Amino acid sequence: MSLQPAISDSAARIRATGRAPQLAIVLGSGWDGISSAVDDPLDIPYGELPAFPKLAIAGHAGVLRLGRIGGREVALLRGRKHTYESGDAAAMKGALRTLAAIGCGTVLLTNAAGSLDPAMRPGSLMLIEDHLNIVQRTPLHDEPGNERFVNMADAYDPALRRQAKDAAAAAGITLHQGVYAWVLGPQFETPAEIRMLQRLGAQAVGMSTVAETILCRHAGLKVLGISMLTNMGCGMEAEVLSHAHTLNTADATRDTAAKALQAIIPALSI
Ligand code: HPA
Repeated sequence: MSLQPAISDSAARIRATGRAPQLAIVLGSGWDGISSAVDDPLDIPYGELPAFPKLAIAGHAGVLRLGRIGGREVALLRGRKHTYESGDAAAMKGALRTLAAIGCGTVLLTNAAGSLDPAMRPGSLMLIEDHLNIVQRTPLHDEPGNERFVNMADAYDPALRRQAKDAAAAAGITLHQGVYAWVLGPQFETPAEIRMLQRLGAQAVGMSTVAETILCRHAGLKVLGISMLTNMGCGMEAEVLSHAHTLNTADATRDTAAKALQAIIPALSI
């Protein structure tokens, strides 16, 4: 199915539930704890949403969970496709455009990332204030028209950022702030690459989110981004990086992440 009919079908499937989410949250590693805090949950497998990605990992087919958090209508995207899985930077295009089609105007992008700042420790959270598209890939290369020349100033909405920071602080959770650098992965960085990214002005490094931010801004969706820092960048400390290590810290930080989202979601002016 080509993209436009797939988006129309996916939007119709969601509308048929009678739910009208105002906020979508893309859940990265470690962020899924919030799923159990959804009131009146209703799940739609990605398999029933033709514009949504087909996920490769067995047992994690991908589910869209509709419901309420803090009285707010939300849609949780439990599962994302990364550019490193297929080489396709537009893997989330259909899903994000479906959100735009159903009138969901704001997307909260979450991820796991490596910290490049010695003061930002593993297990803490960082509000993304801007990004570096180190990969220099775009999800918009086949877009016609002048809208493809998307303005990326304030891509991470300043008002939403302020509200998120204040709400987290009120809940006793520190949200660091910094620049997120997108690397393609799936290999981790070399120590030389980590030093390069630090010099370029990044505080965190990860393998997702940036292409999604570009897609959201192109579709007119507001973006808020939060990274869970699961490790220090390669070579900064003695620890040996691995996916298992990332997942261990992500697991240990699960409750903090869920608590932060529960505080932040009702505070956003959406
Ligand atoms: N580098 C890139 N992506 C990551 C890292 C990292 O150190 N940790 C979690 N995701």
